[in-house]
Amino acid sequence: MKKIAIFASGNGSNAEALVKYFDGREDIKVEIVLSNRSNAGVHEKMAALGVASVTFNKEQWVNSNAILTLLKEKLIDLIVLAGFLAIIQPAIIKEYLGRIINIHPSLLPRHGGPGMWGMHVHKAVIDAQETESGITIHYVDEAVDGGAIISQHSCEVMATDTPEDLAERVHELEYYHYPRVVESILLQS
Ligand code: GAR
Repeated sequence: MKKIAIFASGNGSNAEALVKYFDGREDIKVEIVLSNRSNAGVHEKMAALGVASVTFNKEQWVNSNAILTLLKEKLIDLIVLAGFLAIIQPAIIKEYLGRIINIHPSLLPRHGGPGMWGMHVHKAVIDAQETESGITIHYVDEAVDGGAIISQHSCEVMATDTPEDLAERVHELEYYHYPRVVESILLQS
């Protein structure tokens, strides 16, 4: 059984799509969800799906190896970031290099980097009058939004789109492609 740990800070709709996609499988499962926010919507979603979700505090994240130890104890094969808004600790990147992936809601390198997350990205895309946006799934290294790209999928940006309209279209791409990319990485490893 290959085991996934999801890191999420927000609503958790991607985490939910991932859990549902692998539900009932004997070869791949979402083992645990980790969050830096106790009030993140992801906790409620995971409770409803019967998946353990854990909040860690800044002290545990920055000044200890508690999370890395937990990942190792749980025999995690792949770390999947899904709307996770903290920087991954160097010790975790070192241990899991090539086994941490992220999803970004634009076609990188456009509209990525520090401060570019969630609705800020969709607003920037619309402000730049882009006609196309989409998602980027990439490996995580120490550069924010800078690791090797695994795949990108695009959608149209309509002239009348609000950031919320675009977010909805991009989310649909995320829910479809992210679980399939995770699956393909795990089946090859
Ligand atoms: C997703 O759209 C994800 O691509 C984005 O946050 C959203 C989380 O939604 N991630 C970033 O912007 C990272 N830079 P969710 O909590 O409902 O899955």
